[in-house]
Amino acid sequence: MTNDKPIGIFDSGIGGTSIWKAIHDLLPNEKTIYLADSKNAPYGQKTKEEIIALSIKNTDLLIQMGCKLIVVACNTATTNAIQELRAKHTIPFIGIEPAIKPAVTHSKTQTIGILATKGTLNSELFHKTTEKYQDTKIIEQIGHGLVQLIENGEINSPEMTQLLQSYLNPMIEANIDYLVLGCSHYPYLIPQIKKILPAHIQIIDSGEAVARQTKNILRDVVGLSNAKSSEPIFYTNTNPKVLNEILENKFKVEKRDF
Ligand code: DGL
Repeated sequence: MTNDKPIGIFDSGIGGTSIWKAIHDLLPNEKTIYLADSKNAPYGQKTKEEIIALSIKNTDLLIQMGCKLIVVACNTATTNAIQELRAKHTIPFIGIEPAIKPAVTHSKTQTIGILATKGTLNSELFHKTTEKYQDTKIIEQIGHGLVQLIENGEINSPEMTQLLQSYLNPMIEANIDYLVLGCSHYPYLIPQIKKILPAHIQIIDSGEAVARQTKNILRDVVGLSNAKSSEPIFYTNTNPKVLNEILENKFKVEKRDF
């Protein structure tokens, strides 16, 4: 079974491009349409109702554009809105959630850290996940301010270093051996984070797992593309400068209202 329609991907901004990259690397022949809802970032501080409304808005546009499957490349939108999206539409949705399970499974110190947005850490779905792992100490830290700095193109700023140190140093003191990045913006901070964490602490994000899951659902349910190659399309509803930078100016980015 083949299906040449595009995969739709959305995030509150530019962070979900970390997921897009993993999908594009694994499935280079798939057409992809990416929506960066940077105008409404950060989602992490909004109410559940607001996050659901924004997720529906993005999804409706991607479906209107003919997408065969949607990847919610945002932990905050997944943990707060994916049930509503699935209830509203028949096409498959793939979400991204913090990779707590592999961290807990491999932790030797039985202490792990998670850095995520307030919206993700306060969600019911996240609580249900962590309840399963009572034997491991899970240090939760909201990444206040990190998404805004990334959206502003200030990844390497002194302010970023300071914020990261204040969030990570208590985790290092508590003897974590795994740090879970529970926000699709944060993989862009890995070089910075590595300068702060001792080398034995492993960093986990969910990009590759989401790409593998996307491939499985396409193969088994929706149909993989038969195309030879495909130019991705990126839309942003703010100034495209930072999105272009994060994509190393390799792809076409268009500004549109949504
Ligand atoms: N990139 C998003 C996530 O994975 C949301 C960041 C935000 O807008 O607060 O959670």
